[in-house]
Amino acid sequence: MKLLFIGDIVGQPGRNAVKILLPKLRERHALDFVIANGENSAGGSGITPKIAGELFDEGVDVITSGDHLWDQKEVTELLANEKRFLRPLNYPAGTPGQGSGVFEISNLKSQISNRIAVLNVQGRTFMQPPLENPFTLALEEVKRLRERTKIIFVDFHAEATSEKIAFGRFLDGQVSAVVGTHTHVQTADEQVLPLGTAYLTDAGFTGPHDGCLGREIEPVIKKFLTGIPQRFEVAKNRVQLHGAVIEIDDATGKAIKIQRVSEMLT
Ligand SMILES: [Fe+2]
Ligand SMILES: [Fe+2]
Repeated sequence: MKLLFIGDIVGQPGRNAVKILLPKLRERHALDFVIANGENSAGGSGITPKIAGELFDEGVDVITSGDHLWDQKEVTELLANEKRFLRPLNYPAGTPGQGSGVFEISNLKSQISNRIAVLNVQGRTFMQPPLENPFTLALEEVKRLRERTKIIFVDFHAEATSEKIAFGRFLDGQVSAVVGTHTHVQTADEQVLPLGTAYLTDAGFTGPHDGCLGREIEPVIKKFLTGIPQRFEVAKNRVQLHGAVIEIDDATGKAIKIQRVSEMLT
């Protein structure tokens, strides 16, 4: 099976890129499943049920999130009612929502396995708020998920490359793919690790790249110069969809290939 993971969708420009480019990518790569990180999809901060609904309508099967989870208060509706919306697994016990889910792959030609598990975990190094240990919790969760399917995709939302690489190596052979999000800068280290896990430190972000991580440049520089809080408006130009296409052996759940995606919206 082949899946596309879309890096953090930032604001209206990012959503527009998904709307226009996803059908083209689906055709080009014969995609069976699409996962997107939506933590910045509402004006750059958080996500609402309406925006999640639009992304699902446009062909995204599962939405993951991260530290911007709580930025829009309506997210509580998604956490309560939408199984296709995931929040980091390692929030304290009792937090609404779910960190993983098992989903049917409806149009898969191969009938060996027609289920995929998606897991969303958040790192702790240089991240606020500090959550529970992602390594121990992810390992337990992966064990549970493997009883239902061997095809498992993990979005590891984290800042430090060291933590991300260690996490990928830690889960090598246990999951089909570990792809990082949060830094908004796509890394060039895509690889299939020795035991069969596809890995990429960061998928990058989907939105306006003529800016600072998707925001207008001037307020960000002003904040660094003066320390005074600024409004960070979403930037406008050079809109790109960033992510990765991963090919997975349906029978074993092992990755065959990972390819970075960086597609310009023209
Ligand atoms: Fe983000
Ligand atoms: Fe983030």
